[in-house]
Amino acid sequence: MAYNLLKGKRGLIFGALNDKSIAWKVAERAYEEGAAFVLTNTSASIRLGTINDLAKRCNTIVIPANATDPHDLENLVTKGMEYLGAPFDFVLHSIGMSPNVRKGYKYDDLNYQFLTQTLDISAVSFHKVLQVCRKYDAINDWGSVVALSYIAAQRTLYGYNDMADAKALLESIARSFGYIYGREKKVRINTVSQSPTLTTAGGGVMGIDNLMDFSERMSPLGNADAKECADYIITLFSDLTRKVTMQNLFHDGGYSSMGMSLQAMKIYNEGLEYQDVKNDKTKKK
Ligand SMILES: NC(=O)c1ccc[n+]([C@@H]2O[C@H](COP(=O)([O-])OP(=O)(O)OC[C@H]3O[C@@H](n4cnc5c(N)ncnc54)[C@H](O)[C@@H]3O)[C@@H](O)[C@H]2O)c1
Repeated sequence: MAYNLLKGKRGLIFGALNDKSIAWKVAERAYEEGAAFVLTNTSASIRLGTINDLAKRCNTIVIPANATDPHDLENLVTKGMEYLGAPFDFVLHSIGMSPNVRKGYKYDDLNYQFLTQTLDISAVSFHKVLQVCRKYDAINDWGSVVALSYIAAQRTLYGYNDMADAKALLESIARSFGYIYGREKKVRINTVSQSPTLTTAGGGVMGIDNLMDFSERMSPLGNADAKECADYIITLFSDLTRKVTMQNLFHDGGYSSMGMSLQAMKIYNEGLEYQDVKNDKTKKK
């Protein structure tokens, strides 16, 4: 259902690769809510994914940019404002990638060149986007910026690897820049910490199926999917949340406040009993 929450607003959306992407769902919902925006991704992702189909459906254009390259970002921001005829009211940073995860390097055997890339792509790019936007005065007063995070920034989840460090840095950038941009232009900057979600990036996380099953059982409301995440982000882009800034906002069905749920405990106990039986049988032999 549409509520015209973004009627007359203009935006910039990073990170739609295909129809599983969180950014894809945000673009669809923003369009339904009356926004005009430009889409962007790297040239390789534009070629390999289906972002051009999304652009057609949302009556807009795609401007290629590598979010780690300030020159690309300057071109993107100036061309984006030119196309929309005004600065942005909202910006979505929905970008993440770890070469260490992709190539199977474990956290205690990291390739440091790859670590630098992970941090640059998944976190420092957020700073670069904000710095370029500020340089070109590309975000209107009372604008809203959101980046996507994950609870591995606060808690250790085995297998999330160096992306945990990237997310911790990302959340810190939201706070540090949130102060500067808020004070000067009333621009708010937040991160949304989303449930594990089956997307291309999500699929790369070690043991994603088990992780999703575990968090589903631990969360009183269950995991949040990409469409629900988009709904939440739309409220953050709307005028209904004008005084929310410098926050990491959990969108995870309650997972982040849980210690142990009855459902998860039962499964855990069954697992223990299974082990006991197995051990017993072994002993009898
Ligand atoms: N899927 C999950 O379980 C989950 C959970 C919490 C947070 N997140 C975060 O959500 C965000 C979006 O991921 P997704 O799950 O929709 O997966 P996705 O693979 O659909 O999106 C990741 C995007 O990052 C883009 N990207 C990579 N390098 C880039 C670069 N140098 N410049 C510009 N864009 C670049 C990719 O092209 C892709 O579009 C990421 O920040 C991810 O960490 C995902």
